[in-house]
Amino acid sequence: MRRRTLMWVLLGLGLIVALFVTLPVFSTLQPDYYRRYPTMNLRMDNWETSTHSKISCAECHVEPGVRGMLSFAADSIPAFYSQLLEGPAGTNLLQAPSRDACHQCHTRYRAVAPSGDLLIPHRAHVEVLGMQCVTCHRDLVHSQNRYGFNKPEMETCLTCHDGDKASNACTDCHTRKNTPDSHKGANWLAIHGSQAEVVDCGQCHNWTPSYCAKCHEQRPASHAGNWKTDHAPHARTRKDGCLVCHGQQFCDKCH
Ligand code: HEC
Ligand code: HEC
Ligand code: HEC
Ligand code: HEC
Ligand code: HEC
Ligand code: HEC
Ligand code: HEC
Ligand code: HEC
Ligand code: HEC
Repeated sequence: MRRRTLMWVLLGLGLIVALFVTLPVFSTLQPDYYRRYPTMNLRMDNWETSTHSKISCAECHVEPGVRGMLSFAADSIPAFYSQLLEGPAGTNLLQAPSRDACHQCHTRYRAVAPSGDLLIPHRAHVEVLGMQCVTCHRDLVHSQNRYGFNKPEMETCLTCHDGDKASNACTDCHTRKNTPDSHKGANWLAIHGSQAEVVDCGQCHNWTPSYCAKCHEQRPASHAGNWKTDHAPHARTRKDGCLVCHGQQFCDKCH
């Protein structure tokens, strides 16, 4: 009789311990769990309207495989109880997803964006350069880029594609965003200044912040000969054009 009671007591204790361990893991695998963290609300809202709204947090945020699950369990137990005892503070339970998580569903061989304009050799960046998916796809689920899309922005590319570490020619990435027709006339260099008032040049050129400035620091062809004294007729008709490259104080030095 005494032995049977002991067995029941042990079994009961075992169950309680098992519950104490599985409850946190089970809870933290449920997307709704994260609603209790106020700092997560925006992330949750964006996730719910993203292409991945049917994909649970764990499918991206828990490393695939047994080890990933175990290490998630080990982290989730203290996080769960501290949240119960001390209230939901900020959470660092979930880390940015790894490539392996994305590879559960996606291949790495795509080379062109769905629009067809953009070349993006995934294999070269992910396998050869060893990049993480989220370096480019950081606006995938929890935020949008400044154009209101979940797509990677060009700025991310240009951190490497600066013309030094990797090429920055427009046509290396864009197959259709070519030099516009307006630029193709032989006199474009002479007339582009006047166009700048009617066309938004920044649409394309703001991507290279010092694009205009770099050139404007160079001495233009018009400054040939004895420009120091011959500039008068040009300056009389087009002084505003001079001030694109020169500050007024430059002129004031002599005038
Ligand atoms: C399709 C994959 C995907 C799903 C599903 C997903 N996330 Fe994320 N999550 C990401 C990516 C990519 C990042 C990194 C970019 C960022 O910080 O927003 C991230 C970042 C985070 C971070 C910040 C991690 C850090 O290192 O700072 C938290 C917290 C987070 N997600 C919570 C959640 C929660 C909660 C859910 C479920 C409601 C969820 N995520 C679902 C992809 C996903
Ligand atoms: C559990 C499966 C699953 C996981 C894990 C997953 N995805 Fe997806 N992903 C999908 C599905 C399903 C779609 C929607 C396809 C469709 O609508 O045609 C999608 C769409 C996409 C798209 C195109 C649509 C968009 O919103 O731009 C991108 C980019 C993408 N996933 C990247 C990622 C990255 C990066 C990760 C890892 C952080 C990831 N996915 C993890 C299943 C998954
Ligand atoms: C070097 C930056 C970069 C990296 C790294 C990267 N991607 Fe992409 N990915 C892009 C760009 C840019 C697009 C095109 C977005 C657009 O304009 O539609 C894209 C598109 C996609 C698409 C949707 C288009 C399609 O062909 O179905 C999926 C899915 C995707 N990436 C998954 C991944 C996964 C998974 C990883 C990690 C293994 C990854 N990406 C790593 C830049 C990157
Ligand atoms: C971590 C640095 C890095 C980032 C970020 C990056 N790339 Fe690259 N990319 C490289 C390197 C290095 C090469 C190989 C050298 C080269 O061809 O200039 C390359 C090559 C390429 C090529 C092939 C170029 C050719 O000459 O055929 C394309 C296309 C490309 N990247 C597109 C992109 C796009 C689009 C993005 C942003 C979504 C991006 N890359 C982001 C480093 C990067
Ligand atoms: C390393 C790859 C890469 C290079 C080089 C590059 N772009 Fe982009 N560009 C992108 C990516 C990625 C996007 C964002 C995805 C999209 O909108 O299709 C983008 C977006 C844009 C956009 C905004 C989208 C639109 O259609 O309005 C413009 C404009 C643009 N690029 C112009 C240029 C010009 C001009 C150059 C040359 C100075 C250039 N790009 C060079 C990768 C590149
Ligand atoms: C649709 C995109 C787009 C728009 C809008 C645009 N450009 Fe360009 N521009 C380009 C591309 C692409 C090149 C090629 C140079 C390169 O590869 O960096 C270029 C080159 C130039 C050059 C150098 C020409 C040369 O011979 O070296 C000048 C100057 C220039 N643009 C001025 C302007 C001015 C001024 C405006 C506004 C009136 C403007 N652009 C609007 C895409 C654009
Ligand atoms: C390839 C070098 C180069 C680039 C790039 C360049 N410029 Fe110029 N720009 C010049 C030269 C040279 C002149 C003087 C032309 C002349 O007087 O014949 C000039 C003149 C101008 C003028 C005054 C023109 C006048 O006649 O009144 C304006 C305005 C101007 N540029 C705007 C821009 C803007 C905006 C950009 C960037 C989108 C830009 N430029 C990029 C070389 C360049
Ligand atoms: C595309 C840019 C650009 C434009 C437009 C431009 N300049 Fe210059 N200018 C320069 C540069 C660069 C120098 C050399 C400055 C230096 O050496 O410090 C220079 C030098 C000068 C000098 C000094 C004389 C000399 O020989 O060094 C004068 C005077 C001058 N510019 C007047 C003008 C006048 C007047 C206009 C308008 C008709 C004009 N510039 C338009 C870029 C420009
Ligand atoms: C290096 C000294 C020097 C600089 C810098 C300089 N100029 Fe001059 N400028 C002169 C001289 C010298 C003359 C007189 C030439 C003559 O009388 O033939 C002159 C003549 C002129 C005239 C005609 C005189 C008049 O009053 O009608 C104008 C207009 C003029 N400059 C505008 C400019 C502008 C605009 C700038 C700045 C972009 C500038 N200059 C920069 C030396 C300079």
